[in-house]
Amino acid sequence: MNCLSPSLLSADLTRLGEQVRYLDDAGAAYFHVDIMDGCFVPNISFGFPVVKAVRSLTEKVVDVHMMVDDPGRYINACAEAGADIITVHFEACRHLDAVLQQIKQVGAMASVAINPATPVSALSCILDQVDMVLVMTVNPGYGGQKLIPYTIEKIRELKRISDTSKNSFDIEVDGGVNTENAGLLLDAGANILVTGSALFKGDLEENTTQFLNILE
Ligand code: DX5
Ligand code: ZN
Repeated sequence: MNCLSPSLLSADLTRLGEQVRYLDDAGAAYFHVDIMDGCFVPNISFGFPVVKAVRSLTEKVVDVHMMVDDPGRYINACAEAGADIITVHFEACRHLDAVLQQIKQVGAMASVAINPATPVSALSCILDQVDMVLVMTVNPGYGGQKLIPYTIEKIRELKRISDTSKNSFDIEVDGGVNTENAGLLLDAGANILVTGSALFKGDLEENTTQFLNILE
């Protein structure tokens, strides 16, 4: 199934509840919450109180993207705050296998993200244990950047692997996703589109309708 995962980093935080409820009713299946630590990425964003607030607003999938060094330290806190999916970065984990097991132990879906410069082959040993792979199509840390074209081939590569191995996984794409490139990303094999600025800038209702039509 193809799903929209609005990135709340670009939401109007003075009206977060209103916007989450609107998107929930309109048909967003996931809500993407970006946690940044100012170390793994040069920016600081939300923490677990925000995950908890989002959890209290919706029954949909709370999709937490941890842009945090050594994220194993926070898996329990993240699950307790209400995350359904916990994504950790390949580049941020010294013991990725152990962190993925930790995520499963707390009952969340285990997902791994790769930065633009990280090849799919880096994940070859762990792809049979993940529920989702997040392909970063920009360098993580900020909303509103332009998609880096060479990352699209990695979506195709992951889709081929998912289709031919016994563990099929979701493929989420994050960074610079807009209504112009969404079709291309779905054709490449992504099934969960994260979108921040292209959704929240301008007319939220019109943008939501456009995205949901493309995803249908
Ligand atoms: C960036 C974050 C994204 C970001 C996407 O590091 O992981 O989720 O909010 O924003 P847009 O869609 O504006 O690129
Ligand atoms: Zn993200």
